[in-house]
This record gives sequence, C-alpha cells and structure tokens, in this order.
Amino acid sequence: MNAFQLTGKRALVTGASKGIGVGLARGLAAAGAELVVNARNADELETTAARLREETGATIHCEPFDLSAADELDSFLGSVVERCGPIDILINNAGRTHRGAAHEMPLEKWREVLDLNLTTVFALSQAFAKHRMAAGGGGRIINVGSLMCSTTRPNNTPYAASKGGVLLLTKAMAVDWADHGIRVNAIGPGYIDTPLNKALVDDPEFSDWVTQRCPLGRWGTPDDLSGTVVFLASPASEFITGQIIYVDGGFLARF
Ligand SMILES: NC(=O)c1ccc[n+]([C@@H]2O[C@H](COP(=O)([O-])OP(=O)(O)OC[C@H]3O[C@@H](n4cnc5c(N)ncnc54)[C@H](OP(=O)(O)O)[C@@H]3O)[C@@H](O)[C@H]2O)c1
Repeated sequence: MNAFQLTGKRALVTGASKGIGVGLARGLAAAGAELVVNARNADELETTAARLREETGATIHCEPFDLSAADELDSFLGSVVERCGPIDILINNAGRTHRGAAHEMPLEKWREVLDLNLTTVFALSQAFAKHRMAAGGGGRIINVGSLMCSTTRPNNTPYAASKGGVLLLTKAMAVDWADHGIRVNAIGPGYIDTPLNKALVDDPEFSDWVTQRCPLGRWGTPDDLSGTVVFLASPASEFITGQIIYVDGGFLARF
C-alpha cells in the first residue's frame, strides 16, 4: 500500500480558485482524491477546475459560495454532501487580510478578517465534524495557518490575531475530536507568491527582504505546499494530530 495515496477519498478545498488553494487542490488530485473546490467567483472557480481536471484527470466539483457567513456553513456543507457525496478531508484555506497600523484599524475590517480566517474555520470544521460523526467517524481537517501563527510583522494586527487563533483552534479541535478518529492539523506557509500578496511581490524592497531573509532564498509557490497537504491528509500521518508544519523555506528558523 502507498501510504500517501488518497484514492477513494473526497476532499473539500476552500479558496481554491487561485493562489495556495490551487496548489493544495493539485496535490490532492494528483494523489488520487476526488475534489470539491470552493471560492466566491463561480467563473474563475470553474476555469481553475477545468485546468486541474485536464492536468490530473481528477473528478472535480465546483461549489461557489461566500464562506464569510458562519451561520450558513452547516447548510452549505449539507448541500455539498447531498450533491457531491460524503467529504473525507476538509482543507480550510480561504482567507484574507487588511493591513494597517493597529491604532487605525477599523473594527469593521478587524471583524472581516477574524470572521473569515477564524470563525469560518471553526464553523465549517464543526459542520464537517458532525457530518463525519454521523458517518461513523474518521476524517481529516487541515487548516492553512501562516508564519503569523507564531510571529508577526508591523501592520498586521487582525491577520496575526486570526492566524494565532487558527493554531490553538487546530489543537483544540484535534483534542476534542480525536475520539471520533478526526485528525486536525495545520500548514504554515511562508511567503508565497499569490494574488493575496501581489502588492508585496511587486514591491522590490519587500521582495528583496523576503529573498534575503528566507534561507532557501526565494518566494514560495502554491505547489511548494502540495506535498505537505498530501502527507497530512493521508495514512502516512496517521499518528499526527494537533500539529502545524511550517512550509517556509526556513524562514522561522532564522533569528
Ligand atoms: N500567500 C501567502 O504568502 C500566504 C502565507 C501564509 C498563509 N496564507 C494563507 O493561505 C490562504 C490562501 O491565501 P492566498 O495567498 O492563496 O490568497 P488568494 O490568492 O487571495 O486566494 C484566496 C482564495 O480564497 C477565496 N476566497 C476569498 N474569500 C472567500 C470567501 N469569503 N468565501 C470563499 N472563498 C473565498 C478566493 O476566491 P474568491 O475571491 O473568488 O472568493 C481565492 O480562491 C489564506 O488563508 C492565507 O491567509 C497565505
């Protein structure tokens, strides 16, 4: 048996129309999983899904939906299951940021970031856990954290607070649901070249700082994360829960 094989498993990947979610979806599909991909923009999602189907041959369902309304996620997951079948693996990837000085951060923007990056992760995971328990248990949740699960930079208050929360939420859910065979882990990407970071990638001073500060000397790509998500979703990580794996080119290792 190949311990990294995901044949026969169905994974829901949120925020999978662009950026990191595409790398995660590509890795899971290449390992044999069937996918349900989500984002708000239905056209962009379908274009990405068509490309991934062509590249991997995987079955990919598109479920466009705005995940920021936490109260609606239980019924969202229910309708996904009804249309696509049971979900074995949940990848909580959709996220956002608002940058700015802490003393000038409007509460409305704080709430937008906390809602999607933290409350949505909890509410969708809760819906998923109930679904898995009703199915007899088992299942994997992988949350996309950040270097800001444990460190921060200026002007990132809501984002850092949300990702710090994701790390402890990962551990708390892992502890609560271990008896049901549901493993919960996180991935902490370093600086990855995605649309979310376009302003930073396009800023030569910031980009130089990233490449000089990162021991492996470059921005990451969404595909740099695909091996880790397959590992955490597969039987290869059967005894691992409540952990975060940083995929950061060594960023956090350097003082
Ligand atoms: N890029 C990095 O360097 C980096 C580093 C560490 C962690 N991360 C984390 O990685 C995750 C993905 O980041 P990214 O850089 O790939 O971002 P991105 O390029 O902006 O992509 C975000 C994805 O999420 C979807 N999305 C946004 N809001 C949504 C909502 N309310 N409901 C459903 N889908 C939504 C977007 O599609 P629509 O706009 O169509 O909804 C898109 O598919 C985030 O959690 C982020 O915090 C990123």
